Amino acid sequence: MLCAVDSWWRSAVIYQVYPRSFADSDGDGVGDLPGITSRLPYLAELGVDAIWLSPFYRSPMVDGGYDIADHRDVDPLFGTLADVDALLARAHGLGLRVIVDIVPNHTSAAHPWFREALAGDGRDRYIFSNVPNNWQSLFGGPAWTRVADGSWYLHLFDPAQPDLNWRNPQVREEFAAILRFWLDRGVDGFRVDVAHGLVKAVGLPDLAGGAAIPYFDQDEVHEVYREWRKILEEYPGERMAVAEVFDSTPERVARYIRGDELHQAFNFDYLEAPWDAGILRRIIDASLAATDNASWVLSNHDRQRHRTRFGSVARARAAAVLTLALPGSAYVYQGDELGLPEVLDIPAELRQDPGKDRDGCRVPLPWLGDAPPFGFGPSARSWLPMPADWAGLTVQAQRDDPGSVLALYKQILRVRVRLDGPLVWLPAQQDVLLFGRDGGFVCAANLSGAPVALPAGEVVVASGPLPDGELPPDTAVWVR
Ligand code: NOJ
Repeated sequence: MLCAVDSWWRSAVIYQVYPRSFADSDGDGVGDLPGITSRLPYLAELGVDAIWLSPFYRSPMVDGGYDIADHRDVDPLFGTLADVDALLARAHGLGLRVIVDIVPNHTSAAHPWFREALAGDGRDRYIFSNVPNNWQSLFGGPAWTRVADGSWYLHLFDPAQPDLNWRNPQVREEFAAILRFWLDRGVDGFRVDVAHGLVKAVGLPDLAGGAAIPYFDQDEVHEVYREWRKILEEYPGERMAVAEVFDSTPERVARYIRGDELHQAFNFDYLEAPWDAGILRRIIDASLAATDNASWVLSNHDRQRHRTRFGSVARARAAAVLTLALPGSAYVYQGDELGLPEVLDIPAELRQDPGKDRDGCRVPLPWLGDAPPFGFGPSARSWLPMPADWAGLTVQAQRDDPGSVLALYKQILRVRVRLDGPLVWLPAQQDVLLFGRDGGFVCAANLSGAPVALPAGEVVVASGPLPDGELPPDTAVWVR
């Protein structure tokens, strides 16, 4: 066994790259792998430990690449396998680890297995039924679609994403082989999509009010992760996996990260919390009580960006100072470090997301210049329109501005490496979060409507100005 306490991922800051929207190298208006590789020095300079790449595999892109037609190849939109190798080499050369998405709950309807299934062969790899139950797709509408011969197949997401049957050993073997394929190529781990969804309750019972959800969090799913853990441990270098588990309690989520299963799980309770000291404190306590290996997330490619959710840049800045002071690992979504807002006014005819309204957090990153697409790529194109008023938010505009969100993130990440030890709450005023870590570090976040006294000591990070030696509303500091 590896010495778990020192494992890199326990305290890592992992930066989520959404490949379509990070950087475009070839001018087609869609981000790609060479674009990411060219910008890796930016991420190394930012001070993150690792990146997580959302899917770049062969895909019809019905669900932004979460509909995979070939798990062992790169979609031409994003590049080639050689581009993955180049990305990995460059990232590792810069000291950045790389984890990639694995999507085991479903494939694309364009996957050869599903085509065979439609033709009548190998249907047992998917979930077909002659009588659909009452399950609804998470994207809206029934979770069942009828095929030519009158039977139905299950899709918890889009009809173009048929659910796999994890009771079929072939499915298990195939995914074990896919894991090995990417581990052999040198990835440092995986982000497991819908990790709680793979196994469905025997008999596919109707969803009944008040009862457990029959398509999530079935006990048998843990067998899959015990097998995956063994595979990860066959490889040197502490390869890891982080689970996407939602609609669950911290205690149930903690079962996915028992010592012989996955390593980490996203903290969706934290991601979904409003800017409210009482609620945040309850979630922080519950998260830390459920696991000694917590993670903290403010935004991702599925949720409204936290600057918009919380209602101001000041709050987004304070949230970063608070979040990155908590013990555990943290996931930073691309653009968080620029303080990007959700784009709320994408015209209906330019929206791309099926069923859900997630385009506003997927708008390409602004890198430089005064007009869209702000250096996203070498052409004037971008797959989603970029707001004309983002000139002040570009990396170039923020890089040399000590008051920028980017400068704040860099400073936080520089100091954060010195944070250690458990969180200890300190007595505080109403709506102020105040806690210590080892070495005399204290974090104070003022979520009340009035200024409060600053904790004693030297201020090492501040999310905003501290007039009169006080901590204003919507401001957070680290003091030592
Ligand atoms: C979660 C992913 O984050 C989301 O983007 C996707 O639509 C669903 N899983 C289905 O794969």
